[in-house]
Amino acid sequence: MDRTPESLEEIELGYEGVAEFYDLFAGNEDLPLYLEYAKKHGSPILDIAAGTGRVSLALAEAGFVVHALEKSPSMLQVFRRKTAKGEAAELITIHESDMTNFNLHTKFPMIIIPASFGHALTEEKQKSTLRAIKNHLRDDGVFILDLYVGELIDDYSTFQDGPVPLPRGEVRRSGKMTVDREKQLMSLTLKFEVLDFGGSVAEVHVAKSSTAVICRDDADNLIQDIGFKVLEEFGDFHRNPYTPESYRRILILSH
Ligand SMILES: C[S@@+](CC[C@H](N)C(=O)[O-])C[C@H]1O[C@@H](n2cnc3c(N)ncnc32)[C@H](O)[C@@H]1O
Repeated sequence: MDRTPESLEEIELGYEGVAEFYDLFAGNEDLPLYLEYAKKHGSPILDIAAGTGRVSLALAEAGFVVHALEKSPSMLQVFRRKTAKGEAAELITIHESDMTNFNLHTKFPMIIIPASFGHALTEEKQKSTLRAIKNHLRDDGVFILDLYVGELIDDYSTFQDGPVPLPRGEVRRSGKMTVDREKQLMSLTLKFEVLDFGGSVAEVHVAKSSTAVICRDDADNLIQDIGFKVLEEFGDFHRNPYTPESYRRILILSH
């Protein structure tokens, strides 16, 4: 069998084929804020686009009941592996579903969508996602909307990180982001190179995905159209105020 990196290269859509690397490169700076609001609002919590369960598991480990909604089979495979055993896993119910159109027949005191709202690529899908969320929010509930601020995303950027250890060696990641302002879309290409213990590249995995570039006014219009009220607004997960220089915008919303 030909084992050259090129022959192993897979070009997949979204997170398919690269989910096993997701947690290795994910930041966890958002967890304290979600835990703080969970303490105020209680269970059950709905985690939308839950991925590998990074946030769901942290909430369940703190004793909260979590419903996690995710559509990627690869991400779900990693999530299910992580919840195969352990007490916290018993507090989690996974729903394989699309965030742009779902009905879980339950209302929640807290709903979150960490790092994922831009995956609703069109205004129509953003609205249907927000409508579905509003339909699942209890009268006194809060929805925490985590947004990347579209104006501040560079038109072209690259990055490299790692390597981080793997049971079969280590993996390094590089990424390329390009923004199409007219289409309001950002394309991201991620390349993961797995190095064996001798330092040779043994596997290359490439994943391409797109996210919507949502500018401040667009976000305000969406929130208003769907009928959410802004209770609080932060420019980062340390609860610093949102300013025009903030790269992230975290909104605490209610009915
Ligand atoms: C950047 S990851 C974030 C995962 C997780 N929320 C976290 O913060 O670790 C984005 C996630 O959104 C999921 N996703 C994208 N479109 C989706 C959709 N229409 N419905 C449900 N999940 C979706 C992807 O499969 C992926 O797991």
